[in-house]
Amino acid sequence: MNVLLTNIKELLQIRDASTHLLKGSEMKHLPTLKNAWLLIEDDTIVDFGSMMAQPEGNIDKTIDCSGKIVLPSWCDSHTHIVFAGNREQEFVDRINGLTYQEIALKGGGILNSAEKLQLTSEDDLFAQSAQRLEEVMKLGTGAIEIKSGYGLTTEAELKMLRVAKRLGQTYPVTVRTTFLGAHALPKEFTNKKDDYVDLICNEMLPAVASENLADYVDVFCEEGYFSVKDTDKILSAASKYGLTPKIHVNQFNSIGGVAVGVKHNALSVDHLEIVSDDDIRELQHSNTIAVALPACSFFLSIPYTPGRALIDAGIPLAIATDFNPGSSPTGNMNFVLAAACIKMKLTPEEAINAATINAAHAMGLSHTHGSITKGKKANLIITKEIPSYGFLPYSFGSNYIEQVICNGELV
Ligand code: NIG
Ligand code: FE
Repeated sequence: MNVLLTNIKELLQIRDASTHLLKGSEMKHLPTLKNAWLLIEDDTIVDFGSMMAQPEGNIDKTIDCSGKIVLPSWCDSHTHIVFAGNREQEFVDRINGLTYQEIALKGGGILNSAEKLQLTSEDDLFAQSAQRLEEVMKLGTGAIEIKSGYGLTTEAELKMLRVAKRLGQTYPVTVRTTFLGAHALPKEFTNKKDDYVDLICNEMLPAVASENLADYVDVFCEEGYFSVKDTDKILSAASKYGLTPKIHVNQFNSIGGVAVGVKHNALSVDHLEIVSDDDIRELQHSNTIAVALPACSFFLSIPYTPGRALIDAGIPLAIATDFNPGSSPTGNMNFVLAAACIKMKLTPEEAINAATINAAHAMGLSHTHGSITKGKKANLIITKEIPSYGFLPYSFGSNYIEQVICNGELV
């Protein structure tokens, strides 16, 4: 099946197949083609060019994109989209003055979500998560990373990862999965953290690996959660199963999470709301990608990741939603794009690069996703009629997406 997009006002993010991760001033450039066409065959972008020279041959379907912009779908490289229920009550508690950490200390937070998830059947969990996935696909997400971490028992962690995998098999969106057993310490392990870390290393990791349920491993490296030493131990154990780290670091405190991530060749270190000069130096001497989650900063009223400073220091930056019930109950990449511009001082070009090509790198999908490249997946956003691409982050509360194509299928 051939689909031709014609009269595209501007086609964004045109790269050749060898495009590397963008750093520093490279992030300022967003290659585009005005007055363009693009040809899809089945699930693949096969060609594109200027309207001056249109393709010939049999076309099954033509979509007129007059006045509209076409760009690659968003890649959301950090989510916890598989969860049960919600934490609306904690949202109200925070409005009334409690902090995220105080709520967690009272047994709320991640443990609250774990309790709900353990009591939810696999099918119900799938149905709740599928509804969220359908929503974010309509908002332009074409590839998504999904973490476990609300199970906190071997059985419940496996249940979460099976649901995440099944989402990827059911929908055209590409799913990458991450094992996050070290998300919080279960109540039964109070004062016995080493035992829980051992359970992760000796029971959970082998079980996850034997069912081939995860592409990556994650740890919430933070005061009150998992220390640098715990993180080091878990990442070492995970490397035996070929799991590359993508870890939660520096959300509230800079305690050495960046260095331990770099030591283990992490694909990404995510959050980074609090960043020290040493953290910047560590990242400058590494291949690790910094991932900022500005919707979490917005929702928790905590500092924004210093995205401008990270880019100016030559560090590759990606942006993601962190969709989860406690700290970022949204999977809207369009909002993330706007927040990156407004709060982190990224230009629209930098933010679009951070949400597409760099984000594809941050989930190991740069060979198939994140740019308009012949041979890559036909994962595309067609906007409504808008004056320019900067209008997307500028109009932060509106939805200017008209159509989404995911692996060649209209969503
Ligand atoms: O990325 N910080 C750790 N994990 C999630 C939030 C977990 C929760 O509150 O449920 C995050 O913000
Ligand atoms: Fe997260």
